[in-house]
Amino acid sequence: MTTFSHMSRTFVVAVLMMLPVTAFAQEATIVGSVSDSTGGVLPGVTIKAVHDATGNSFETVTDSRGQYRLPVRTGAFHLTAALQGFAAPARTFELLLGQEATVNLVMAPSTLQESVTVTGDSPLVDFNQSKLGGNIDPRQMQELPVNGRNWQDLAILSPGSRTNAVTADSPTVIGSNSNTQVGSYQLNLDGKAFRPDGMPAATLIPPAFGMAGVNLHTWGGGWGTVTYWNAFVANLELQGQGTFFDARLNDPDKYPVAARAGFGNKRSENDMVSSKLAALQFYQLAIPPPTPPRGSFDRAAARRGEIIFNGKATCSQCHVPPLFTEPGWNAHKASEIGIDDFQANRSPDNSYRTTPLRGLFAHMKRGFYHDGRFATLLDVVDHYNSFKRLDLSGQEKNDLVEYLKSL
Ligand code: HEC
Repeated sequence: MTTFSHMSRTFVVAVLMMLPVTAFAQEATIVGSVSDSTGGVLPGVTIKAVHDATGNSFETVTDSRGQYRLPVRTGAFHLTAALQGFAAPARTFELLLGQEATVNLVMAPSTLQESVTVTGDSPLVDFNQSKLGGNIDPRQMQELPVNGRNWQDLAILSPGSRTNAVTADSPTVIGSNSNTQVGSYQLNLDGKAFRPDGMPAATLIPPAFGMAGVNLHTWGGGWGTVTYWNAFVANLELQGQGTFFDARLNDPDKYPVAARAGFGNKRSENDMVSSKLAALQFYQLAIPPPTPPRGSFDRAAARRGEIIFNGKATCSQCHVPPLFTEPGWNAHKASEIGIDDFQANRSPDNSYRTTPLRGLFAHMKRGFYHDGRFATLLDVVDHYNSFKRLDLSGQEKNDLVEYLKSL
């Protein structure tokens, strides 16, 4: 088994980290506020950051508190602010992977000759999140089947990359304590970076453990199983040399970007991926969900919660123990769980996958459901309670939450 374990370490980790995500969208963030020289906030200021390397520009407008937030790529930027009758000096700076730069701007009324005032009391550019950045070491660079050593393909493997990241406090997606992260989702298939409400169309990265017995395993239904995603990620995401076939990606209406790029039928001359898929899948299916630590939930309440889960609350209709998803085609329409169908409609099956619930305790930080819309498990239970008119008492909801924490 030496070849297996040798093969697996880097490649497995790489692929696991990337299972359900498919894009290189947001890599760094610029945040800040805009005020006038008297300190008054300035809403409605157009903030434009031009990416030096590509000439791409990223734009946003300050909100009612004069604040803005601009997800961008890594690299050097030229940032300008525009508001009728005001002027501000442009800023030039460089952003590294995972960084969040605070760029506060002071605009002065522009009179006949544009005069500009810059206050000196705060740093012009303040990086406050560089700790998330990570390195891909030379050995990984050699071993990963990345075509052309594209820095971006390697960069998206790095801790802190917002597209597929695991953070410093979630050391690994394998095993315990995986901390669900935010990732862009299939941008390289349909080009949809934003939801209809203008918010980023990102999803959380589902845990990579506990997949044995689980059929569909990405948030959107119908993509395929673990081995589908391994092939998908290695070929289309890491741009490894391999073979990938999925005729559904030729649909120009649903997946315009993928259809144009020919993702539905990729054949490399030197296929370095296909031979690794079997061992990789085998390995992944062997990763068990972590066991909740002692004292992390109330045992007596969890026992009562189990009865509610399987009975009055009807949760087990979909979250079937002990997999906590349905054996078979584990997907549902958005209307069955009372949420919008934006993300569902980006998947081949226009559905959401029934999330397997084992190891929930290990990813409590980023919220629940595909986009983290519910901050706590109690919020999830409240949602089901009102949507399905379950009529649960406060105590019953609490018991249900303790049971979820125990899984
Ligand atoms: C009709 C099937 C169905 C029923 C019934 C159901 N769920 Fe779900 N559940 C789902 C689906 C589908 C999702 C995924 C939602 C998404 O992708 O945003 C989900 C997601 C969840 C999540 C989020 C998991 C995570 O990692 O973010 C929790 C927790 C959950 N359900 C708990 C429950 C509880 C508790 C009940 C009973 C009150 C219940 N579910 C009833 C289908 C169901």
